[in-house]
Amino acid sequence: PRLLRASAAPRRALSTPAFCFDIDGVLKQGEHVLPQAKQVMQILSGNNPLGKKYPFICVTNGGGSLESERCKKLTKELEVEIGEHQIVQSHTVFRSLVPKYADKPVFIVGGNSDRCRRVAEAYGFKHAYIPADLLAWKPAIWPYHKLTEKERSYAKDADFSTISFGAILVMHDSRDWGRDIQLVTDLVRAQDGVFGTLKPANDAAAWAPERQIPVHFSNPDLLWGNEFSQARFGQGALQESIAAVYKLVTGHELQRTTGGKPTRATYDYAASLLAQQYTADSPASINLRPTGPAPSLPGRVYMVGDNPASDIAGANGYGWESILVQTGVFRGSKPEEAEHVPTVVKRDVLEGIKWALEREG
Ligand code: G3P
Ligand code: MG
Repeated sequence: PRLLRASAAPRRALSTPAFCFDIDGVLKQGEHVLPQAKQVMQILSGNNPLGKKYPFICVTNGGGSLESERCKKLTKELEVEIGEHQIVQSHTVFRSLVPKYADKPVFIVGGNSDRCRRVAEAYGFKHAYIPADLLAWKPAIWPYHKLTEKERSYAKDADFSTISFGAILVMHDSRDWGRDIQLVTDLVRAQDGVFGTLKPANDAAAWAPERQIPVHFSNPDLLWGNEFSQARFGQGALQESIAAVYKLVTGHELQRTTGGKPTRATYDYAASLLAQQYTADSPASINLRPTGPAPSLPGRVYMVGDNPASDIAGANGYGWESILVQTGVFRGSKPEEAEHVPTVVKRDVLEGIKWALEREG
């Protein structure tokens, strides 16, 4: 248990509303931090007529770095202190998979360089391999890319003809879809999760859905919003591409699970962290590994998102208020134009928060 600090943060009035912010398309557009986002953080940190502080958390289908690293980057970007207890990423819920795969080889897909391998190892996966390791082993496995010196510097040396993988974890957006479609398909149709092998075509038992190597995607986003004028393809588009090619080459449906928003596991975890902000004596005393179902929150929760299919669907499904902003994926003007109808549509995160605080009185 963490030691409680003497100086306790003031306990919040139990009717105080809480806020949950999506990141891409709400607080940021690509690397550009919206000025409105910085203003909102000032307001929630006490710079408001009541001098009140409001509990809040950032929940993103993004990822690619440790939560402890991401919150430091967000602190700099938003110019307020963001603690590890205030960030949930798409793969944060993969921590719950560690007991099952800690000692098994896992294939990690997505993100820049070997960052997701390092996140997986920090979570507790002891044998995490990435696509660069396979290209170092047999360059012909994906003939369209020659490993760079930098990639060689972090590629792990291994003989994959002797390694039987336990699972595939797609942790972030792929930087080479062709390579990753090829390698994931290779591994899913392999005998016992060994690259370069193939399940016998006539062995129906080997191809049974329950015998397939588990494939865990960290979010379902078909689209996400950055600074381009139209939404960009996300991990959901890669997932559908892999499933389509896998079906074409094997005739079988790809069995897979998906985390992130709008799944309940991600919202349960976010709610557990938010709830602690009302009662914790200090951020350091917040349990980052909450177990069990999320406690009900004392005040309303307002989720601000740009993606109806992840942010609004998740918030609505969780009984939270949903504010759909027009700075990311959603480019409409009326709630009914969204596939998942929000409580309200607002121009940006600042208009959204002003509306919510006015509504709360
Ligand atoms: O990879 C990022 C994207 O899928 C969505 O991120 O922050 O809008 O949930 P976010
Ligand atoms: Mg977004």
